[in-house]
Amino acid sequence: MMQNQVALVTGAGHGLGQAIALALAEVGCRVFGGDLSWDELQSTKDLVERRKGFFQPAVFDVCDAQAWNQWIETIKSRESRLEILVNNAGGVAGQTHQDVEFVDDRLWDKVIKINLYGAFYGIRAVAPLMKTQHYGRIINISSGAGRSHSLTGIQAYTSAKAGQIGLTRQMAAELGPFGITVNNVAPGFVRSNPATEKQWEAMGEEGQRKLVESIPVRRLGTPMDIAHMVRFLASPETGYVTGQVISVDGGHSMF
Ligand SMILES: NC(=O)c1ccc[n+]([C@@H]2O[C@H](COP(=O)([O-])OP(=O)(O)OC[C@H]3O[C@@H](n4cnc5c(N)ncnc54)[C@H](O)[C@@H]3O)[C@@H](O)[C@H]2O)c1
Repeated sequence: MMQNQVALVTGAGHGLGQAIALALAEVGCRVFGGDLSWDELQSTKDLVERRKGFFQPAVFDVCDAQAWNQWIETIKSRESRLEILVNNAGGVAGQTHQDVEFVDDRLWDKVIKINLYGAFYGIRAVAPLMKTQHYGRIINISSGAGRSHSLTGIQAYTSAKAGQIGLTRQMAAELGPFGITVNNVAPGFVRSNPATEKQWEAMGEEGQRKLVESIPVRRLGTPMDIAHMVRFLASPETGYVTGQVISVDGGHSMF
């Protein structure tokens, strides 16, 4: 049913974004993936093509509104349509916890830009095309931090992800009449990037055991756990689900 649908995934060179690109390509989507690193995008392309899927990479910064518009124009001229947008690029931009009085404006801005502005720029850029086709599936990737608080205590990250959840709801209300759904996936702890890997190591054996025991299904998440939920929300069958935030965290938090 998703055969030949056109999907755009940000942060597709690594971690969850790579898994999302693979999961969408697996069901026949034509996946356009953006990221900062050409080499990482190339590794996603190789993985997708090994499974006979389609993946078109673009080196691209989600904080650059102009680059968004250009990328959408390119996709529009090649494919004439775009069914799925996954705003996945994000993270803590290498930051660690600082007491609030020491948080630097530049670092605060950087995290807010990637996680909140990036999603806003993406939605703004795709909305006209999705409205014309009277169909769209937009999925934003937030975090348990955005629904509650960050385990690593990075203020800007929690604030940006909470803002992105607000953006999800507002866009769902605005774009629903045009056949466009907007939902949000909040992953739990996944060892998919250097920040979570460092966090995992810092916990030590006892901390790791405690974390796993606090998760009802008694295991950490995998990138594919997240990708499968994104693929579900990206499918045509979910047209009556919008403005929702779904935690994919083994039941760690229940809302
Ligand atoms: N891994 C987890 O435990 C976890 C938990 C909750 C939420 N998340 C969220 O899931 C998403 C993916 O996380 P991940 O673990 O796969 O991280 P990751 O670091 O492995 O992947 C993120 C990708 O986004 C790219 N990216 C970063 N800034 C970008 C920018 N400005 N423009 C374009 N691309 C950019 C990176 O290069 C990277 O390839 C993020 O939004 C993150 O906040 C992750």
